[in-house]
Amino acid sequence: MLKECLMATSLFHDSLTVRTQSHDYPIIITEDATSKDSSMAKQVAPYIKGCQVLIVTNDTVAPLYLQALEDELAEQFTVKVCVLPDGEQYKNQTSIDQIYDALMAEHFNRDVTLIALGGGVVGDMTGFAAASFMRGVNFIQIPTTLLSQVDSSVGGKTGINHAQGKNMIGAFWQPQMVLADMSTLKTLPARELSAGVAEIIKYALIMDEAFLTWLEENLTAMMALDLAVLGEAVKRCCQYKADVVAQDERESGVRALLNFGHTFGHVIETHQGYGNWLHGEAVAAGMMQAAKLSQKIGWLTLDEVERIERVLMLGNLPTKPPAIDVQTALDLMGHDKKVKHGQIRLILLKSIGSAVVTNDFDNDLLLEVLSQHSA
Ligand code: NAD
Ligand code: GLY
Repeated sequence: MLKECLMATSLFHDSLTVRTQSHDYPIIITEDATSKDSSMAKQVAPYIKGCQVLIVTNDTVAPLYLQALEDELAEQFTVKVCVLPDGEQYKNQTSIDQIYDALMAEHFNRDVTLIALGGGVVGDMTGFAAASFMRGVNFIQIPTTLLSQVDSSVGGKTGINHAQGKNMIGAFWQPQMVLADMSTLKTLPARELSAGVAEIIKYALIMDEAFLTWLEENLTAMMALDLAVLGEAVKRCCQYKADVVAQDERESGVRALLNFGHTFGHVIETHQGYGNWLHGEAVAAGMMQAAKLSQKIGWLTLDEVERIERVLMLGNLPTKPPAIDVQTALDLMGHDKKVKHGQIRLILLKSIGSAVVTNDFDNDLLLEVLSQHSA
C-alpha cells in the first residue's frame, strides 16, 4: 500500500547521454521543470558556459514558459530574448537574421549560449544560428512539443527551409544539453501531440517491433496526457536516436533510416505549403505510402500494413496523402537530399522493426503508390 502511494506521487525523471564526435551531452527528461523547485532554469544553468544568454522562442510559447525561465536565469546571467513569429513558414533566413540582429545588438560574443525554447521550428533555427554565429557558439534545447522531444532536439541537425525544399540549408551542430519537460505538453494542441506520436511510431516501425506492441497498449494513455507514459516513450525514442547518432552522426549510413516516411512526407509538406500539413502528419501519411510500397515489393504482408494503419489511426493521424499529381510528386522527390546520382532512394520496411535504404524497386510500383490519395 505504502509502495503504491509512493509510486503514485513520484514524478517521472530520467536522463541519458548522447555520444557525438564533438562532445557528449545529456538529455534530461522530467515531468516538473515548470515548478519552482526543479525549474527549467535550475536544470539548464549548469550547462551555460559564459555569462551571456539569448533565449530564442516564438510568440506562442513565450507567454507560456518564457517569463519564469528568463527571470530566474537573469539572477546569474545577462539574459536577452528573441521572440520569432510562430510557424513553419517562418523557418527561413529572415528569422535567422532576426536572431543574428539580437546577438549583434547586445554585442554578444563567443561566450554566448543560445537557448531554444519551443518546438522543432525554434530548435532547428536556434541551432543553425548557433552553428553559424561567430563560426559556432553553444546552444541548449528546451523542446516543448512531443515531436521536438522525441526527435528534432536530439542529434544536431539544424537548419531552415528553402522555397523549393524543406530543411535544405543547415548544419550539424550538437547542443550542450536537452531538457524535455513533459509538463509543457499539457498546453500543446491535440493535433500537435498527434504529430509527435507519428515520429514515435516511426521508431517502432524501423527499429523495434516490441516497441510497436508497447505503443498499441499505451497510446491511449499517451493521447490522454499520462505524463509518466509519455516520459517513458520519450526516453525510449531518445535512446534509439542516441544509439543511431553515436554510430552515424553525419548520416552517411544508418541515420538515414530515421527519415522513414520523410521523402513521401516532404512532398506533401512542400506541395501543400509549409505549415498546412504538420510535419508529423505528413510523415504519418508518408510512412503509409512507404509501407504500401514495401508491401508491393513483397516485403510487408497486408496484415502488417493494416497494423501500421491501425496504430496511426489510434494516434489520430492521417493515413493517406492529399491529391498530388504523380509527376509533381516525382519532381518534388527529386529535390530530396536522399536522391543520389539522379536515383530516388527510399527507406522501406523489410518487416516491422527492420528498415533499409534502397533504390532497388520497380518505378511503376512507386508510381502506383503515388497515384493513391485521399480525395
Ligand atoms: P513547431 O515547432 O511548429 O511547433 C508546433 C506548434 O506548437 C507551434 O505552433 C508552436 O508554437 C506550438 N507549441 C510549441 N510548444 C508548445 C507548448 N508546449 N504548448 C502550446 N503550444 C506549443 O513544430 P514541431 O512539430 O515541434 O517541429 C516541426 C519542425 O521540426 C519541422 O520544421 C521539422 O522539419 C523539424 N524537424 C527537425 C528534425 C531534426 O532532426 N532537426 C527532426 C524532425 C523534425
Ligand atoms: N530526424 C532525422 C534525423 O535526425 O536524422
